[in-house]
Amino acid sequence: MPQAEEVEDPAGYNTLAKVHEQLADAHRDLREAYSQLECSNFSLAEKARRLKALFELAKSVTSDLELGKTLEHTINITCHLLGTDCCSIRILNEQRTGLLMRASTGLSRAYLQKGSVKVGESVAGIVVREGKPRIVRDMQYNSNYRYPEYAASEGLRSLLCVPLLAKGSVIGVLTVYWKQLHEFSDEEVAMMEAVADLSGVAIAAANTHESLERAHKQLSSLYSLTRDICSPLTLDRVLDIVKEVIAAELSVERVAILLRERASELVVRAVSGPEDGLKLGRVVRIGEGVSGWVARDGRSVLINDVSSMEQRPHGWRRLRSVLSVALKARGEVLGVITVANRLSREGFTEADKDFLEALAGGAAMSIHAAGLYSQLQRNYVDIVTSLAVALETRDHYTKGHSERVSWLASETALAMGLDDDTVRFLEQAGRLHDIGKIGWTDIILGKNGPLTEAEWDQVRQHPVVGSQIVGAADIISGVAPLVLAHHERIDGSGYPNKLKGDDIPVGARIVAVADSYDAMRSERPYRAAPKTERETRAELIRSADVLFDPVIVEAFLRTLRKVPAEQWERESR
Ligand SMILES: [Fe+2]
Repeated sequence: MPQAEEVEDPAGYNTLAKVHEQLADAHRDLREAYSQLECSNFSLAEKARRLKALFELAKSVTSDLELGKTLEHTINITCHLLGTDCCSIRILNEQRTGLLMRASTGLSRAYLQKGSVKVGESVAGIVVREGKPRIVRDMQYNSNYRYPEYAASEGLRSLLCVPLLAKGSVIGVLTVYWKQLHEFSDEEVAMMEAVADLSGVAIAAANTHESLERAHKQLSSLYSLTRDICSPLTLDRVLDIVKEVIAAELSVERVAILLRERASELVVRAVSGPEDGLKLGRVVRIGEGVSGWVARDGRSVLINDVSSMEQRPHGWRRLRSVLSVALKARGEVLGVITVANRLSREGFTEADKDFLEALAGGAAMSIHAAGLYSQLQRNYVDIVTSLAVALETRDHYTKGHSERVSWLASETALAMGLDDDTVRFLEQAGRLHDIGKIGWTDIILGKNGPLTEAEWDQVRQHPVVGSQIVGAADIISGVAPLVLAHHERIDGSGYPNKLKGDDIPVGARIVAVADSYDAMRSERPYRAAPKTERETRAELIRSADVLFDPVIVEAFLRTLRKVPAEQWERESR
């Protein structure tokens, strides 16, 4: 029997073969189980990565109220999750009629400048209207996609566009692009919707936060502006302040303030931005162009898409958007403020219009007051000037002297680059510097011989008397220090206070040079003949740094060169 068994399976090979087969099956099963485990692990790792990215997005968008950063986080995390590098966010405009590109990555400038997409048009517009995601598997061959030629030039093939939602309403769209044909999975669409839900709420919150911050800043500016322009100011200063506040608060490329100076015309009186179209001094007829319409009707105009208008508003070139409001005081239109082109390429909002209208209300009152103040100032200066002229009729030697000093002093200030207020003060100081002589007796005015000590005392008092006359009226009191110090000399040899150098107001130092020059060139009772032009200029140069400020003498001599000598002789004598 043992021999028979050895014949059937002499070495137990069959048994071993079976065992080997069973082992091979077990090994295969183990390998399959391991492979499934690996897949499952990979899937779990991928899900964990995506959940982590979503968590990061949730954390970043809820911790940052800055709109720019919120958009940037959304773009980065979307690209990371979907494994692509092209993504964009478009936000609905205030009127909810169109989508503006607000953030993107991986897209060229030409693609981004396609302009706004209207609601209901193209893929993004349809997503807004329907509130549901859309897939375009091939952007270069899809009837709904509006820009196949751009897609071809950018090398884009597939896109997925999902609505950004906040409080149940669409506020924009998030679009992700692939540069090769992409097979979309339900999981990818679900993930994009999750990103869009998170980002939509965060973008809406950041938008509200930015609007509130802007409103707060604009209110602060309005408050400061009202405070600044409520003090007595010249018209030019009021216009400058208003122009600066508008440019800063509305971030616009162009600002123009036009005033109604005649019944049918506006004149551009303040402007900033490119030097074209509405230049300073340009006349605009009422009823023509945006500013003309606003002046005629008194109603604000806001146009955010100038290119779509049948009748383009004339005035500025390269207009994208324009906002214009009336300057109204006591029911009367005094002028118009027109601004154009937001620097950020966004259009103007209703909030911008409200801000500009509020600002225009305060500005109009100030412009009205500045006009009255300026008229009052002119009237007062006219009265005091007529006193100076009356004085000159008593002293024929000084006829026309005040007018000449006024012109010379203000032109010298201009040549020195001094501010408008100083130039205006010098114009008035020149006219009024000798008004204190009003108390002089005719004996002093026309005396040929030397003055007595008592008469000299009276002469030395005329700057004091003059500054008291001028300083008595608030409206021109700024001129009083110049009148008081016009006989001071920088070496301290002058009168009435023997001031030296920089202690003498710069305006008084300018009047001193102009006054001395004209006195040397005019006839005087106490000398035989006036000095010649050459002698006078040489005298001024000699006295520079001793009696007069050398910088002022230099500017004064430059001013004199602007007037031909013979004309000066003819006009001044
Ligand atoms: Fe004087």
